[in-house]
Amino acid sequence: MQLPMQDYLAELHSRFSSLHEGEVASYIPELAKANPDWFGISVVTVDGYAYTVGDSDQRFTMQSISKPFVYAAALADRGKEAVLRKVGVEPSGDAFNSISLHHQTGAPLNPMINAGAIATTSLVAGDGAEAQWRRIEETMAALIGHGIEVDEAVYRSESETGFRNRAIAWMLKNFGIVEGDPMSSLENYFRQCSILVSCRDLALMAATLANCGVHPVTGKRALPDECVEPVLSVMATCGMYDYAGSWLYEVGMPAKSGVGGGIIAVLPGQCGIGVFSPRLDAKGNSSRGIAVCRQLSQDLGLHVFARAAPPQLVVRSVYTAAESPSRRLPSREKAGYLAENAHRIKFLSLQGMLAMDGAEYVVRQMQRLSVEADSFILDMHQVTGLSDSGARMLHQARVNLHSDGIAVVLSRVRGRGHVEDPLRRALPRGDRGFLNFEDNDVAAEWCENRLFEEGMADPREVSLLADFPLFRRVPAELVEATAKLATLQRFAPNQAILASGQAGDGSIYFIKSGTVSVLVPVQDSAHQRITSMGAGMSFGEMMILGPAARSASVYADGEVVCWVLMAQDFDRLSEGFPLLKITVLENLAHDLAERLQQNNRLITVLAS
Ligand code: DON
Repeated sequence: MQLPMQDYLAELHSRFSSLHEGEVASYIPELAKANPDWFGISVVTVDGYAYTVGDSDQRFTMQSISKPFVYAAALADRGKEAVLRKVGVEPSGDAFNSISLHHQTGAPLNPMINAGAIATTSLVAGDGAEAQWRRIEETMAALIGHGIEVDEAVYRSESETGFRNRAIAWMLKNFGIVEGDPMSSLENYFRQCSILVSCRDLALMAATLANCGVHPVTGKRALPDECVEPVLSVMATCGMYDYAGSWLYEVGMPAKSGVGGGIIAVLPGQCGIGVFSPRLDAKGNSSRGIAVCRQLSQDLGLHVFARAAPPQLVVRSVYTAAESPSRRLPSREKAGYLAENAHRIKFLSLQGMLAMDGAEYVVRQMQRLSVEADSFILDMHQVTGLSDSGARMLHQARVNLHSDGIAVVLSRVRGRGHVEDPLRRALPRGDRGFLNFEDNDVAAEWCENRLFEEGMADPREVSLLADFPLFRRVPAELVEATAKLATLQRFAPNQAILASGQAGDGSIYFIKSGTVSVLVPVQDSAHQRITSMGAGMSFGEMMILGPAARSASVYADGEVVCWVLMAQDFDRLSEGFPLLKITVLENLAHDLAERLQQNNRLITVLAS
């Protein structure tokens, strides 16, 4: 299928191909050689899908687009405070090559103007200019996703004619902003401006910023997470120099332009945009680049201040364990208890980005539901991101509800760093952490056990076969006769009692004490635990219907004692007492019907 976004970008490309305003940069002689008609657009999503149209693979020099990325490296290497002492974050409202230094400290107003960029280049880690260049090279390669190359002709051209930048570098030395040799830092600055990129590369770099510093295709972290926010902030306020205000007003995305004709724009959490067209307007920004970004923002509603999604959307569904109980098979008494109380186990299935507003809404829903709740299971499976403030709010709600006797547990968090990390960071010292379960079933079982602990104790041991649901309403003398046929068997912890697929030998198990886990095989020779059973519950009872292969495996959780009855012996006994088999079959049919109903309820919930 032709993707609609691809069609849209192609249409945009053909529409703006007729825009011929502006001039190719010529103050660096080598740049004047660019073909003014080159025109490429690329959009890369945070999951790494690249849309490209036009001259998307034509290479050109990055120029000032290198500035935010070198600034990110300086932040990563020196820390925010140290960098802020040397370079400010105020928009200058001046052109890129203005000498905008703080009147007292001499600190450049921001890292996007040349003065600030030369200063940040001098700040990246490395013993000497060569090592610093290797650090810049390595950062750029990680951001682009492949090795980099410098256009030596552009570099020489710039170095030979960059008198104004030389003056700026000496000014920075004069104020103590650049500490080492200002000329070597300046050469590194010229080199970083001369790195060759395509507009597809630019979109990938922008998408890496949109993706919290992780390259969307290589999956490798190119920048520390904590550097992304400050970098995007200076791009938003200063990235387009003396056009920054109008840009934010009309386009509304952190961005950066370069005199090579490139522009990047970042839509955090969504995509990165790269546009390339060498004709520049009077402020040194690509004319078509600006027109394309303005149109994209308008047509696709990309402005970062556009109305955000309502927080209610984070709650996908709310249901209770009455509709979706755990897959354990409770004894008759427990089933009765659950029928009365399972609605007090509330599931909140969450989705999307859980920032402060979404978390606040979730917490308020829990407060509203808490009048009738014993526990909450927050299913995080569909949560795509969790802010630190959101995590702190969930944590505080967990603590507050705990003091009201209500448990809050999480499900499906493990191994998903974007959810797990903020949750861990939210834990104050000494907090033993949150309970997290592999899946909703195990979480529901834990919550059901909690209900049982409060309302009814688990029988540790059953002393009569008559106490098993399968023998309900069977006359006592017939249960006794059946009991005589059964033998007691002991199983050691983790011992396999039944193996899935194995031909059934007719044995039916009645748990006298201990618990067992029932597992079914899933892909890759793994097993999924489907239920657990305790004293007073039976398994393998399908043998009453005739021989068949075992449908699941059963393992002893700890020491387990069972009565084992052979179906053949039972059948023989029933020949003399047909009522025995009829009643047992009725009980079996009744239990199966209940399980079917339970599954239907679950399907209804999952489908809603
Ligand atoms: O400092 C310079 O002159 C260039 N090499 C970089 C300038 C640049 O790209 C300005 N941005 N629009």
